[in-house]
Amino acid sequence: MTDFKPPLALRAATPSGWAAAALADPEALLSDHAHCEKKAALTALNLAKHLGDMPHAPALLARLADEELDHYRRVLEGLQLFGWTLLADRGNAYAQALHRLASKGLLDQLLIAAVIEARSCERLWLLEQGAAAHPTLGYAPWLAFLLELERCEAGHALAYRSLAEEKFGLAALARLDWWLDREAEVVRAVPWRSAVH
Ligand SMILES: [Fe+2]
Ligand SMILES: [Fe+2]
Repeated sequence: MTDFKPPLALRAATPSGWAAAALADPEALLSDHAHCEKKAALTALNLAKHLGDMPHAPALLARLADEELDHYRRVLEGLQLFGWTLLADRGNAYAQALHRLASKGLLDQLLIAAVIEARSCERLWLLEQGAAAHPTLGYAPWLAFLLELERCEAGHALAYRSLAEEKFGLAALARLDWWLDREAEVVRAVPWRSAVH
């Protein structure tokens, strides 16, 4: 197993036992992930509205939203492939806890998006390792997809961090430091389930 390097310096590593817990109910895992990808696309489009004064930001975020929609479609197709249905959205306690801590408007929205993308990247890597360790689970077709997703979400984390830095300068770096501590607290507090977060 190679070491994982998250795109942002996350301050709480997910324990290795997490992947087995998440993979215990793959229909729930993929359903939840489909909802997350759709929300990620909507987040990018929503943030683009607020960054119209930065010439390259709307196009960058449109491209990011396009990638998330592609992930959404492909996760839905994966559900179909396995003969599963899209289960109801049970909400995302992790993201909700982060948003409850936000108090600095657009800066916090960009940084929350950055840390969620970075955590997604770590969790996808763990799922990939977990699925590879249990080939009998029938995840083989998913390994390449998970790896591709993981690389994509890493790029998204860096894009959101760059946008925050461009827009808010040094204040963004100080606030990111604060968010990395909060994210570590939140991720340790949220119970494990068959979901990426
Ligand atoms: Fe995605
Ligand atoms: Fe993403």
